[in-house]
Amino acid sequence: MTTQSPVGADTPTLLADRLVADTFAGYAYSYPHKSAYRQLDPPVDVATAWAQQDTSSIFLYTHLPFCEMRCGFCNLFTTIRPGEDFLSRTLAAIARQSADMAEAIRPGQVATAAFGGGTPSFLDTEELITLFEQLAATWPVSWADIPVSFEISPGTVDRAKLDELHRLGVTRISMGVQSFVDAELKALARPQNRETVDNACAEIVDVGFDTFNLDLIYGMENQTVDSWLFSLAEAVRRGPNDLYLYPLYVRELTGMGRTGRVAGEHRRELYRIGRDYLLDAGFTQRSMRNFQRPHETANSTYRCQEDGMIGLGPGARSYTNRLHYSSEFAVGQKGVRNIIEAFANTESFTTIDHGVRLTPEDEERRFVIQGLLQMEGLDEDAFCQRFGRSSVDALPQLRELRELGLAETTLDTSTTRLTTLGFEFSDVIGPWLYSPAVQAQMDSYDLV
Ligand SMILES: C[S@@+](CC[C@H](N)C(=O)[O-])C[C@H]1O[C@@H](n2cnc3c(N)ncnc32)[C@H](O)[C@@H]1O
Ligand code: SF4
Repeated sequence: MTTQSPVGADTPTLLADRLVADTFAGYAYSYPHKSAYRQLDPPVDVATAWAQQDTSSIFLYTHLPFCEMRCGFCNLFTTIRPGEDFLSRTLAAIARQSADMAEAIRPGQVATAAFGGGTPSFLDTEELITLFEQLAATWPVSWADIPVSFEISPGTVDRAKLDELHRLGVTRISMGVQSFVDAELKALARPQNRETVDNACAEIVDVGFDTFNLDLIYGMENQTVDSWLFSLAEAVRRGPNDLYLYPLYVRELTGMGRTGRVAGEHRRELYRIGRDYLLDAGFTQRSMRNFQRPHETANSTYRCQEDGMIGLGPGARSYTNRLHYSSEFAVGQKGVRNIIEAFANTESFTTIDHGVRLTPEDEERRFVIQGLLQMEGLDEDAFCQRFGRSSVDALPQLRELRELGLAETTLDTSTTRLTTLGFEFSDVIGPWLYSPAVQAQMDSYDLV
């Protein structure tokens, strides 16, 4: 058992060769990938790690690794049916961690916040109120003035809980639906009742969150073009102004991975169909996965290329410019439980013992990956200003993107953007930009 990503030692360096090898190589949502994290010896003080970082404006992320079910495709860090004692001990540890981190970091202000998982709405309303109060007591945060995102699953919310989340300051609700076709849900091993989905969608719209997101997955072997169009239409009909379309990945140690299921060969065709459908329906593409309708959202001063992220909860990652860290990671149930148990038993959260240090070269690569994979593109002036050289001087391989027609630079705005074809290959382009050292770390990672 090794890496999360099929990119290995034999993977070609040339992008042109990779494009024919695997279109869906890996989802580069963060760089370096968490499978490149290792034990830090000696451990680092939280205060020392954050001393060099501009903390005038930070992202506060809370990871709640609990779900009512374990879906067959999911390799996120989560466990099912934790039981009252385990849950409350973990929440108490999150409160201790929050206090210790706030004391050590003392940021200027929380500019944006998110609750993810797992399924944060697995918590009951009282537990949620307590959590928001504890965070507000330890961090400089005004929930009412910033964007606050919150992930739910259809079966874990009712009207009272949604009303309370709205009252607490949540501005964005994100809900997994994956498919509106029962046979596809079965293939994904995602038990889900249509009526529950319908009720949750209607209530979310009725409560009136600024942003209503739904997640769909494409690429199940039994999904057809027609059934994909059906799910897209059903999703749009329920009124979201934000949609994530995820290509199916069948990962090691997941239910689907264990039973030898594979993703269909038609993911690229389905990607195009999904994209065109949403563009026709008035959505704008923000990245390969994300489509939005114009809507009002709370303003944030958070700058994702420069500002840090503070992660609370087992499995949450924290980022400074030079160090990324988290608790350990696992997918298998035993491994996940052991890590949460160790977290719940931790008295003091003032040191960091698991993460990865970013070299100056990694910082450049991260900046390029984050810029390129979003519709805003790579801001060439900002890159030069921060790193003292152009992106092509830093990464000559970027020329190949232009030669292959996958990216274009607009001179008047000095921005490099992926083309329509480039976005289609986001999952190849991201991993192709990883440094050989980070890739080697990922390749030698043993997943448990
Ligand atoms: C934290 S979950 C969303 C909230 C909630 N837990 C739920 O499932 O309704 C994040 C999303 O990632 C996507 N996802 C997770 N694992 C995936 C995989 N292996 N392939 C494709 N999409 C995946 C799913 O669309 C899922 O809704
Ligand atoms: S998809 Fe959502 S509900 Fe299913 S196991 Fe993953 S986090 Fe939990």
